[in-house]
Amino acid sequence: MSGCSSQRNDNTMINIAVMGYGTVGSGVVEMFYKNRESIHRKVGKAMDIKYILDLRDFPGSPYEEKLIKDFQIIADDPDVEIVVEVMGGLEPAFTFTKTCLSRGKSVVTSNKELVAARGAELLKIAKENGVSFFFEASVGGGIPIIRPLTSCLAQDEIDEIAGILNGTTNFILTKMIREQTSFADALALAQKLGYAERNPSADVDGHDACRKICILASLCFGKHIYPEFVHTEGIRSVTLEDVAYAEDWGGVIKLIGRAKRVPGNSDGILAMVSPALISKECQLASVDDVFNGILVRAEATGDVVFYGRGAGKLPTASAVIADVVNAAKPTDSKTLLWQDDGKNHVLDSQQDVVGMYLRLTGTSDALQRAQNLFGEIRILHREDQPQDEIAFVTPAMAEGTLQQKILQLTGERCKLRSAIRVLGY
Ligand code: HSE
Repeated sequence: MSGCSSQRNDNTMINIAVMGYGTVGSGVVEMFYKNRESIHRKVGKAMDIKYILDLRDFPGSPYEEKLIKDFQIIADDPDVEIVVEVMGGLEPAFTFTKTCLSRGKSVVTSNKELVAARGAELLKIAKENGVSFFFEASVGGGIPIIRPLTSCLAQDEIDEIAGILNGTTNFILTKMIREQTSFADALALAQKLGYAERNPSADVDGHDACRKICILASLCFGKHIYPEFVHTEGIRSVTLEDVAYAEDWGGVIKLIGRAKRVPGNSDGILAMVSPALISKECQLASVDDVFNGILVRAEATGDVVFYGRGAGKLPTASAVIADVVNAAKPTDSKTLLWQDDGKNHVLDSQQDVVGMYLRLTGTSDALQRAQNLFGEIRILHREDQPQDEIAFVTPAMAEGTLQQKILQLTGERCKLRSAIRVLGY
């Protein structure tokens, strides 16, 4: 590695610093020492954790002598070659990461907020300094997805990527589908089990999935995709009635993050996070509980699906350590890269072509009017369906057109209760 290598030790030992000693950080330290022998074998050199940075005290910790509170110690130590950033949040993670990369230290992170917001800039700094910036653990926890996208599938043209990227919302939806638990009760259970935070917004409002699809889309399409331009809907409005109608249609409702190329438009990307009806035949439909699943649709390879634990201390720590091993190998190609040209490449979601599941209450002529407006609709039924409730799936058409027709259909006497996209995976 370049940078400060001339001032370093005799290179017989690779020193690591871990920034953040929370759930993931403690998992990384624990797993590193448990698997140290095999890590040495894979890297071909001895490695050790020299510092653990955290502002909190951990009295009685077996690693007390490694714990420090001052980032500058890591920044100024030329013997630290690899820094693990598992603090989370944008600052000070960004400033610390940038400093480490600029000083010739490779950085490995699990921080999706950091990568989604500043990934292109940090990759550029890493490249300029001949070091690595790796982030396998930022998407899909323990599922290998970043490296397969950038190496195994690197020769193929990726047309689309879609996935169940948030374990907490998938747990809630699974409870709603399998046990008819209401959204509120399923959320309370997710909080009790420690999946959802006390403030569950990042998960249930789709922001976490949005950051993850932005990272995947940036890698797949080579342009920085900013979360703030991606239309994002969470699962708060999904009801048990919708779950029942989805069952009648032959599918399930999942929170899907997706991004795709648009034929004839080499510059723009369609990207979105929203609940969606997917057929039970789609492989993503059987991704349940806290598991994640990611479908990559590539020109030559066709569909490839990745499945596994998308969160949790040890799966995430495992992905972090795999990146540390890769950063330590002298032969590893530092190929992760996408460009930030300062432009927004996300197209208006109104251009997307989808079918829509609609649930309405009101007038008796609503079905006839819906047929006149949308054409061949598929009418759905459920048990205990009130007389004034209708539900159907429209044919696929541009979202903009769909929205206009929904406006024409609904009003004072015919109320829209649910509108969920139908995806054809
Ligand atoms: N809150 C996230 C999830 C954790 O539920 O998937 C992993 O990013």
